[in-house]
Amino acid sequence: MPTPSSSGSVRKEVETLLKTAKSAQEFMSEMARVLHVRMLKYNWVGFYMLEGQTGGQPPVLVLGPFEGAMTPHTRIPLHQGICGAAASTGKTVIVDDVSKDPRYLACSLETKSEIVVPVFVRGKVVGELDIDSHFPAAFAQEDRELVEHCAGLVGKRLEQAPA
Ligand code: SME
Repeated sequence: MPTPSSSGSVRKEVETLLKTAKSAQEFMSEMARVLHVRMLKYNWVGFYMLEGQTGGQPPVLVLGPFEGAMTPHTRIPLHQGICGAAASTGKTVIVDDVSKDPRYLACSLETKSEIVVPVFVRGKVVGELDIDSHFPAAFAQEDRELVEHCAGLVGKRLEQAPA
């Protein structure tokens, strides 16, 4: 049975992972696992990465490493969902009650609140870290800081070497 964790101890665990992971992909998978297991209100944790920024296709967010139930939303266009809103504005989006947000794309009937934080590489959005909770208003300032820190580490890791 996992014990509730402080965001400080989880932050340290994730920073350790950054040193041990052999690839950006492995870092993202392990980060999703740690956030999912250690933060008890983080019931779905996953990455969406932006594809199609070059070439003729409109850009789309593609599901990357995740922990939790499979989602029907494996590809999300930038004009859809809370995920699309965060990627297209480059800003963190927190929704305390997803049932009241018309942008929301349902992943699970149990989801009540959501945070989506963009991942930047050299100032450009390349993807995002998306977390759903079964609890309303699960993402306070401390959570925002933790998730933004985690997304920042992924951006740094991707800057060193692509996935
Ligand atoms: N709820 C997201 C879709 C992704 S699932 O939550 C995993 C959205 O509204 O964009």
